[in-house]
This record gives sequence, C-alpha cells and structure tokens, in this order.
Amino acid sequence: MRLKFLGPMKSQDGRISFMIESQNSKNVRMGYINGRINGLKNCIECDYAVATEYRGRGIAGKMLEFMLDKVFKDNALSIKHPLRVVLNIDAENQPSRHVAEKAGFEKIDSESRDSVEYEMTPKQYELNIRKRTQAIQQNLPARNI
Ligand SMILES: CC(C)(COP(=O)(O)OP(=O)(O)OC[C@H]1O[C@@H](n2cnc3c(N)ncnc32)[C@H](O)[C@@H]1OP(=O)(O)O)[C@@H](O)C(=O)NCCC(=O)NCCS
Repeated sequence: MRLKFLGPMKSQDGRISFMIESQNSKNVRMGYINGRINGLKNCIECDYAVATEYRGRGIAGKMLEFMLDKVFKDNALSIKHPLRVVLNIDAENQPSRHVAEKAGFEKIDSESRDSVEYEMTPKQYELNIRKRTQAIQQNLPARNI
C-alpha cells in the first residue's frame, strides 16, 4: 500500500485543506482522508472513507497514523501553532469510532446526540508516540495502547 499526502491547497471557500490517499500496487485509490483547517474553531477537521472491497484490512488506521505524523511531526500544513485534529463521527458508526479510538483520539463533549466528536491534541500525539515507542522496545503488541 502507498500513502500519499496531497496539499496543502486552498478550498473553494478559501480554507486550507489537504488529502491523504492510499493506493494499491496498481495505483487504484483504496481510501482517503479529507482535512481542512477550521479557523473559527481553531482546529483541523477530517473525514475519511475506505472503498467497501478494501475495508477491514487496517487501511483507515494506517491513513490516520500517517496523517497525524504529517500534521504534527512534519508540519506539512506549515502552521505556526499546531492545531488539534478533530473527527466528527456518527454515534452509531462503530467501525469508525473504533478506528479513531485505536489511533489514540479522545472523545470530547458534543452538543449533538447523533454524532460524537473526537480530538487529537499535539500533546496527546506526543504521548501516543512515546507509548508506542515504549511498547516496541518492550516487545508489546502496539494495539490497545
Ligand atoms: C470506517 C471505515 C473508514 C473503516 O475503514 P477500514 O479500513 O475498514 O478500517 P480498519 O480496517 O483500519 O479498522 C476497522 C476496525 O473496526 C472494527 N470494526 C468493524 N466493525 C465494527 C463494529 N461493528 N463495531 C466495532 N468495531 C468494528 C474492526 O474490527 C477493525 O478493528 P481492529 O483493527 O481492531 O480489528 C470504513 O468502514 C468506511 O469507509 N466506512 C464508510 C465511511 C465512514 O463511515 N467514514 C467515517 C466518517 S468520519
């Protein structure tokens, strides 16, 4: 699988946005993440999807991990102050909630009952990286950290 970062670019509404794409060996797109800066809320909002035939192979999880590294480690959006990354997920979308939680996102209070908001702050990202490194050093499974 190949992961690509496309951007940053300006959306039609003037907002800075980016896209993550995962492709197979034949350059067929298997999944994507769309991200855009929300200046009012001071965050980066993302949504994602994986084509039906490619689901359940860890693609969404890998794309999220790649995206977080791009945003927080590489500062691919060239922003002065790191912003938190926010996901707004339908409350009943268990696969997506599971993927978000497994990637280390934390649930935050939401006004809506129909959707759940998750966030990753720069601090939380650093903490997750440290936990992952420790797990690798101690030879523990990287999941459920
Ligand atoms: C949500 C979505 C992106 C997940 O993509 P994916 O590549 O299949 O995800 P992964 O393979 O990385 O992980 C799926 C995880 O969900 C788990 N899962 C699947 N169905 C589940 C369910 N009903 N309840 C809880 N967990 C579930 C899988 O076991 C797997 O977890 P594991 O890695 O611990 O075994 C994909 O289902 C999708 O595109 N859905 C439609 C669009 C969508 O809902 N987008 C999210 C909006 S922000």
